[in-house]
Amino acid sequence: MKTRLPSAALALMLAGAGALHAQAPVPPPRASADAWTVPATPPPAPISREEHARRRAALLARVPDGVLVVLGADEPEADYMTFAQSSPFRYLTGVVEPGAALVVEKSGGRVRETLFVLPRNPAQEVWQGTRLGAERATALTGIPARTRDGMEAMLDSALARTPSLLLVSPLTGDGSATEWLRPDQELAAALAAKHAGVEPRWVDDELFAIRAVKSPAELALLRRAILITVLAQRAAMRAVEPGMNEFEVHALIEGTFRRNGAERPGFGSIVGSGPNSTTLHYRAADRFMEAGETLVMDVGASYRGYSADVTRTVPVGGRFTPEQRAVYEIVLAAQKAAEAEARPGATLGGISQTADRVIATGLARLGLIEAPDATFDLAGGGTSPQHRMFYMHGLGHGIGLDVHDPEPAYPAYGGRFVVGSAFTIEPGIYVRADALDHLADTPRNRAMIAKLRPVVQRYRNIGVRIEDDYFITEGGVERVSEGAPREIAEIEALMARPSEWNAERREGVVEWYRGTGPR
Ligand code: GLY
Ligand code: MN
Ligand code: MN
Repeated sequence: MKTRLPSAALALMLAGAGALHAQAPVPPPRASADAWTVPATPPPAPISREEHARRRAALLARVPDGVLVVLGADEPEADYMTFAQSSPFRYLTGVVEPGAALVVEKSGGRVRETLFVLPRNPAQEVWQGTRLGAERATALTGIPARTRDGMEAMLDSALARTPSLLLVSPLTGDGSATEWLRPDQELAAALAAKHAGVEPRWVDDELFAIRAVKSPAELALLRRAILITVLAQRAAMRAVEPGMNEFEVHALIEGTFRRNGAERPGFGSIVGSGPNSTTLHYRAADRFMEAGETLVMDVGASYRGYSADVTRTVPVGGRFTPEQRAVYEIVLAAQKAAEAEARPGATLGGISQTADRVIATGLARLGLIEAPDATFDLAGGGTSPQHRMFYMHGLGHGIGLDVHDPEPAYPAYGGRFVVGSAFTIEPGIYVRADALDHLADTPRNRAMIAKLRPVVQRYRNIGVRIEDDYFITEGGVERVSEGAPREIAEIEALMARPSEWNAERREGVVEWYRGTGPR
């Protein structure tokens, strides 16, 4: 065991003092057997404690007087799960150990912050690792820290002075519903029951508005996450071949994340072939792939908590079939049209409409829909554009600590891209074999189905999504994930290169997993 670092050295590391790492510059990793190298970017510094303090100050400036409580995530109940800090707590404190909480009393222009952490406990640390303890937590963050067992008494005395209880939920950055446990709700209910007149109020929107605009330090961390993801996409493209199982590609991608310093995948990796390429969030990754199928790889490394989100679609056989090529070229044209309009002041709604038009026109050209503006009848009444049968999701979203992070171009935060916007553009077309089988039974739909069915049959099970990560710049937009090939010729050329991963692959070994035997 190394000796424990003194507090001053820890504070220096948190402040991102590159000097501790700077003596021996190491070249960035190469995607081996592949001419591409990671662009030489300076090692990203961790978010400094000054930046964490600015984030807290910005939040406090937006909320009324009261007692603000932000809970960190607890140790997972199940022993086999890894710990993941909740994004709002990580954003405000930088602390990534379980069981922590932040309490801030704001009153008449005065602010008193307290960080609560689990007490040191040598017996439990044998199992779960060394805890910060209050002393080191203070040194690390600059926030006066106490042990968590003192939090209840402090909240009781604070709520005796004010009924204003403010909370931040652990919901993801786009506010989407989640089945995540809500300890914040439990705490709020308990405190409201105990203290007459206390009315909890959640200040998630105030925090999301701040998180939406990324700082230079955040963009540097995102850039690293994206470059690691590009390495994984390139390695996967070289490895994919008929007869391989999706889980082999999944393992290669997630292994590439970890060996390049990523903490974890930023979301459940999506590696889906054939029919699975048409399931938007397919997660099982256990199907054997065949030539003639498309493979969608929608993956993102999380680096110091910041998540990339990059999708590539490749032909399992190494060459796109004419049908796959036709669909791919429409999706690529839609992405390029949308990105050409992305700049400060542009709207997500505007670039989404542009992508919609390209996709609808392309689908009509293939005969998968009747006309670019054709509609079909919905079961509950009303109509929907026909292209929505094959492109069912939004064009993109913010990225940050959450893979779906708040973004200034969301209507709730102003609706326009700004310098500091970090986001995806990810059009897709998914021809599910049963695309026409579950529509409302109306005369108009019946006529449409009769016309489209042979074309759906021709393109069935082709799923294509192309997703890149972008930063808005003063002059326009940077496609940060450009190192992952998206042109058909480039993908086919990279797939033709040998892969060391496959050199390790022995016939029959993977089939052993399901006892299917080699086919
Ligand atoms: N990976 C999930 C998404 O693309 O939004
Ligand atoms: Mn994605
Ligand atoms: Mn995405």
